[in-house]
Amino acid sequence: MNRLNVIPRFAIPYGFQDFWTCLRTLFDTHLPWPDAFDKILGGGSKFWASSGRQALWLILKGLQLSLGTRVAVPLCGDTGVAKAIFQAGYTPVFLDVEEETLTVKPHALAAARREIGAAVVVHLFGHVARMDQLSDAAAGIPVIEDTVEAPLSFLDGRMAGTFGVASFYSFASSKCWPAGGGGLAVVNDPDLAARVSEETRSLVAPAWSRRLSNAFGQMAKAVTFRPVFYGTLGIATRGWAERHSFLEPVLDLNQIQPGQAAVALCQGLRFVGRLERLRANSLYLLSLLSQVEDIILPNERPGARYNFHLFPVLVRSFEERAAVARGMLRRGVDTSLIHCDAVQKARELGYRGGCPIAESVASRLLTLPNHADLSTSQVERVAGAFIEALNVFRSGKVQRQWAPLPPVSQSRTSIVKSRSDSEVRRALTGLRHEHPAEELYMPLCGTTGDESYSPPREGCRGGLFEPAGPTPKATPSTPPQRGFSQERK
Ligand SMILES: Cc1ncc(COP(=O)(O)O)c(C=O)c1O
Repeated sequence: MNRLNVIPRFAIPYGFQDFWTCLRTLFDTHLPWPDAFDKILGGGSKFWASSGRQALWLILKGLQLSLGTRVAVPLCGDTGVAKAIFQAGYTPVFLDVEEETLTVKPHALAAARREIGAAVVVHLFGHVARMDQLSDAAAGIPVIEDTVEAPLSFLDGRMAGTFGVASFYSFASSKCWPAGGGGLAVVNDPDLAARVSEETRSLVAPAWSRRLSNAFGQMAKAVTFRPVFYGTLGIATRGWAERHSFLEPVLDLNQIQPGQAAVALCQGLRFVGRLERLRANSLYLLSLLSQVEDIILPNERPGARYNFHLFPVLVRSFEERAAVARGMLRRGVDTSLIHCDAVQKARELGYRGGCPIAESVASRLLTLPNHADLSTSQVERVAGAFIEALNVFRSGKVQRQWAPLPPVSQSRTSIVKSRSDSEVRRALTGLRHEHPAEELYMPLCGTTGDESYSPPREGCRGGLFEPAGPTPKATPSTPPQRGFSQERK
């Protein structure tokens, strides 16, 4: 492998222009209006958030469902979504997905319909879920679309994000718009928009030191993902970055950083041009892999237009995936296992089985590089490396190296650690509610014996927020905490 010519697993299209935009706003305290996104995301009301998961959390709080309400979410996806449901005071209910689109099965939603109060539909990898059938299956309950990976994906000419009551986006370090962090809630329902607006008033400005470190951190990450540095720096620092969750968003009560908002706006407007190259490369890669037997490719189904943010491929087995990933890296092409930890993380939030397809997908899914900036010959290298590595494994020439199975956590709910009932109750979203904590959080989760619990931060209105980064301080302008039951009309 030529270490100076490795194709990275993701592209991070964050350049010096973005870095400069971010630096220029370091002393600004005001956020730009998110309305510039109207040009590409339509006219829904838009609210900045510090991450995709915070945007979802704001929407969920705005829905004002009773505490403990069950909210459906597909098992395949980012675990931050189920966690945000939990942290908003609701109970995630995991639904199975279909292999073809890797999005939630309409039948599964219909079957769960009677026990849920809302559903989050994830348009994973830029695929579009079957929104027409899902809307029928939801039969009137609010549907929130996770469009983090699907900006400008369409179904029958209608843009993902415009079907449900609201949708949300992320500007995390390797997303479609990698501004280093931040998110956006887009609310299509005017009443919900008013309540989400109210919820955003509790957010506090992020610390300046955090903004500075984020600007340099994102630039550094983008540099290590350039092909010339990736084989050395990128791969060498990968383990470290994963261990330290470098630039990984957490659900906190900070506002988006002004620099992230400014960069996200610029990147959003540039995205339209990049999308054409991304699609062209992805369609070419699809054509090169079309003859490979017994794999599932991200083919667009009739009526759908994917943005191809990522290029997921399903192989036959866990062992085959491990061998292909190793073989491709040896040939200078890195791949990703993004979202493959979904089952394990869902178990920590109460998942007990019942989604066989999603479980199988998580063990067979591999994401190939399909960046907009790859040249034709690089796309051919990706396809060639995949086919060679697969053939070597399938022909039995490679001595099987059994990769260890991902550990299955024994804990049922890692968010909540063993604490006295009153502590748990106080911590659980800080809401003044009538229900005992166990009733609200444990119906799917069982015991709290070995769970890890994060107390709410100082200045928060309450909630289970991960203890990363500096604690936001309450400012005099922070509205007093109000209980959920008080807000409910
Ligand atoms: C499909 C999907 N939904 C939601 C999220 C959460 O966004 P954030 O990490 O900004 O909270 C992600 C992030 O990886 C994602 O990929």
